[in-house]
Amino acid sequence: MDSRLLTCAQLCCGDVICDIGTDHGYLPCYMVEKGLCKKAFACDVAQGPLDSAIAHINEHGLSDRITAVLSDGLDNIERGDMTDIVIAGMGGELISDILSRCEWLDESINLVLQPMTKADVLRRWLFENGFTVKSELACVSGRFVYSVMQVRKVCPEYPCTQEYLHYGFVKNDTEEGRRYLRERSQKLKKIGSGLLSGGTNNTLAQQLLELSRLHENE
Ligand SMILES: C[S@@+](CC[C@H](N)C(=O)[O-])C[C@H]1O[C@@H](n2cnc3c(N)ncnc32)[C@H](O)[C@@H]1O
Repeated sequence: MDSRLLTCAQLCCGDVICDIGTDHGYLPCYMVEKGLCKKAFACDVAQGPLDSAIAHINEHGLSDRITAVLSDGLDNIERGDMTDIVIAGMGGELISDILSRCEWLDESINLVLQPMTKADVLRRWLFENGFTVKSELACVSGRFVYSVMQVRKVCPEYPCTQEYLHYGFVKNDTEEGRRYLRERSQKLKKIGSGLLSGGTNNTLAQQLLELSRLHENE
């Protein structure tokens, strides 16, 4: 369990966790073993990772509380008494696609989403499809910093601003949060400067540069 998965665990809040794209099954094993939830579903689209999750579950003697399911996203998962769904370690577009195909999501389910790329694409999709980002925490894993989002299927009461899309609701009150905001700012500055020097889209370039200034000094 690295700090990325620990942050996902921290944002779960109920008794029945479903981990989509579980790979080795580290997250559900950790959560059940630590008593952070009562039972869990470890799900993956591919048999290889699922077998490795099953081996891990058996090694830890948790097969009475963790069910392994072969499933593309949530396609083979029933709502049942699910309290939390974690989708971590995938791109923002794939996470959006998985959520868009599920018809039984409701307000009572806590979604914990951790995009490896395209967090802005995921935030836009969430906004346009009636999902509210309740909180975001930054975490560092290896050489990179990521955001973990806690989300509910409730219409957002905030506007879909460029600031929301690019920085989300990550706060600058932790070292990880400051690093996330700083790195996003640097990326926006790079894209804005590139556009400006290429003379292709000056309005967008100015917008991105202005946005980058919000967190350039974190
Ligand atoms: C990079 S691993 C992430 C593992 C773990 N969730 C984490 O964050 O460390 C991505 C896993 O997602 C699985 N995966 C990819 N697409 C999926 C889908 N549509 N539905 C379920 N699992 C998927 C892959 O097979 C792989 O095991």
